[in-house]
Amino acid sequence: MTAPAAPTAPRAGLCADRVVAVTGAGRGLGRAHALAFAAEGARVVVNDLGVAPDGGGIHTGDSGGPARAVVDEIVAAGGEAVVHGGDIATAEGAASLVATALDAFGRLDTLVNNAGFLRDRMLVNLDEDDWDAVVRVHLRGHFLPLKHAAAHWRAETKAGRTPVARVINTSSGAGLLGSVGQGNYAAAKAGIVALTLVAAAELGRYGVHVNALAPAARTRMTELTFAEAMAAPGEGEFDAMAPANVSPLVVWLGSAASDGVTGRVFEAEAGRITVMEGWRPGPTDDRGARRSPAEAGETVRRLLADAEKPGRVYGAP
Ligand SMILES: NC(=O)c1ccc[n+]([C@@H]2O[C@H](COP(=O)([O-])OP(=O)(O)OC[C@H]3O[C@@H](n4cnc5c(N)ncnc54)[C@H](O)[C@@H]3O)[C@@H](O)[C@H]2O)c1
Repeated sequence: MTAPAAPTAPRAGLCADRVVAVTGAGRGLGRAHALAFAAEGARVVVNDLGVAPDGGGIHTGDSGGPARAVVDEIVAAGGEAVVHGGDIATAEGAASLVATALDAFGRLDTLVNNAGFLRDRMLVNLDEDDWDAVVRVHLRGHFLPLKHAAAHWRAETKAGRTPVARVINTSSGAGLLGSVGQGNYAAAKAGIVALTLVAAAELGRYGVHVNALAPAARTRMTELTFAEAMAAPGEGEFDAMAPANVSPLVVWLGSAASDGVTGRVFEAEAGRITVMEGWRPGPTDDRGARRSPAEAGETVRRLLADAEKPGRVYGAP
């Protein structure tokens, strides 16, 4: 646990007086989000376990690692931040993430679930361990911090202090459209969208808005696989794939200004923000009686002729 920070001068910015916890904030998108929140006056809990791109490697804990470097960067720029080095896919790590915000800053207003890693394989080569590790870090790693933060906000509401709380979850185009070679990751990221919808519906009564983001940016997760798309810009050009281009939407969603926006999914990359529109009933036929299998097939063929074509799965021919 960290000692409470000394009182500071009034803060300015869209998130002045807000306390924000960002998971996986030692690198890539999470780091950019943490810096962007701090630049808008938020006090930030910078979580990162400091693992390798496949989730292995040295766990750096509270003493250092990439989370410490981001905290140092925020403090050097005049902001306030603390390290949390726990594994957010464990109950202990998720509970201590919330406790760190409360101990250090006395409150928690916004949770950004972002931590994760990849173990890409075609389905026939995908080991159970690679399935479990990726589903665990993304899906469980979203559920547990969300659950512990929500329990805190429910308690606040019951004590007569309904918060203006925000959660931003991190999905992916892989979870929205599918992605060849990423069955484990796509399934987890699709699950995060469903979790977001349920959380938005359940937690509104406690003052909590919950939205999801499908980002794209140049990080260690993407710079090798999508080298061409993630290429750095030429001299003086807009660095379209910089992670910092995604963060302004996250900061706005994490602020009080996003009042009324909940249960939504956004794509964000470069200079573009897109509202993603999800599953809804398309062409339908209710005969009011059971069909034979052959009749069901005939109905399906007719309905599909009128239905919108699905988006292309990433990497599919
Ligand atoms: N980069 C993209 O284009 C892209 C696209 C779609 C979705 N995403 C998602 O955005 C998020 C951030 O990805 P990134 O590209 O910045 O990757 P990254 O590898 O640069 O950063 C992820 C961070 O999460 C940390 N982490 C991993 N497991 C953890 C755990 N159990 N507890 C705490 N921290 C842990 C890692 O140490 C790492 O610093 C991920 O959820 C990723 O799936 C990224």
